[in-house]
Amino acid sequence: MIRIGLLTSGGDCQALNAAMRGVAKGLFNSHKDVELFGFIDGYKGLIYGNYKMLQFSDFSGILTKGGTILGSSRMPFKNMRDPDENGLDKVEAMKHNYYKLNLTCLVILGGNGTHKTANLLREEGLNIVTLPKTIDNDLWGTDMTFGFQSAVDIATQCIDQIHTTAASHGRVFIVEVMGHKVGYLTLNAGIAGGADIILIPEIPYDIDKIIDAIKKRAERGSRFTILAVAEGAISKDLAKLSKKEYKKYMQDYKYPSVSYEIAEQITKKSGMEVRVTVPGHTQRGGSPDSYDRVFASRLGAEAARLILEGEYGYMVGYRNREVVKVPLEEVAGKLKMVDPESTIIQEAKLLGISFGD
Ligand code: F6P
Repeated sequence: MIRIGLLTSGGDCQALNAAMRGVAKGLFNSHKDVELFGFIDGYKGLIYGNYKMLQFSDFSGILTKGGTILGSSRMPFKNMRDPDENGLDKVEAMKHNYYKLNLTCLVILGGNGTHKTANLLREEGLNIVTLPKTIDNDLWGTDMTFGFQSAVDIATQCIDQIHTTAASHGRVFIVEVMGHKVGYLTLNAGIAGGADIILIPEIPYDIDKIIDAIKKRAERGSRFTILAVAEGAISKDLAKLSKKEYKKYMQDYKYPSVSYEIAEQITKKSGMEVRVTVPGHTQRGGSPDSYDRVFASRLGAEAARLILEGEYGYMVGYRNREVVKVPLEEVAGKLKMVDPESTIIQEAKLLGISFGD
């Protein structure tokens, strides 16, 4: 008998259900005796023993369904070792529930924080297999995460739609794309949507360079300019601050987000009219696109294969167009960021895109 626990943790994304369906189909089709337990709302469900038994039928019709049938929550890794408000040791509670259900393995779907806790559970002796999800594509050890491509499509569509109204009114528009620490989503949606200026956390900007780029476009006869700005875009001046100084600066921050600050600065310095559009959580919502359906299904099936072969302690990742297993200790605690020297940045610059640097 194979007894598997499943959980989805952290911010949701498209194709979580497709990935779980891949795991379940891979296991059920093995003709082994399989029992599947779904923990509700991520690690919370594992800590408090909140789970449901899942049947084969639970995975029917969910390939195209966004969100997660198990629910998700954020449980920061940094607090995992702290007792909860009732003094419960959360790590011990997770181990207790794992052993109580006599699980063969836990399959954990998540991003960066999730992987730190997954690795902690591995270190504590549990059998773990993980799957890389996040719209940010910032997980170490894999070239791609599921959710990313679907989010790129949504952010691109947003930029497409802004294009027509920006052109009609001759305005400067900022589309703020998700990604506090890493700019893959903004970079890809920006290129796909034909943004003229792309600002990402990895390449700090200079507001005067941004204004120069807008003016240059106007001189060439363009009536409008579109900026794709990551949530975590940062100016060169702020990037120089220490963590402590930056935190202090942010305490008195008066803007809803960086895009509004950039918009105000452009208007103040140049007199140009600027509008800000924030697609926000729509980027994580709705159905996975066809790429993510295939990708998540493949990774899910590979997770099932690892379990059937008794190989634990891995994330199923994707490198150089191959599905691979990556040791969890290599993944946990590392962030994959856009390399400012990478060819995609150089190519974007050749296309005339400004990064405000
Ligand atoms: O999960 C990743 C992400 O969507 C980031 O791109 C974004 O900055 C963040 O989550 C938003 O978090 P929350 O859903 O908790 O507001």
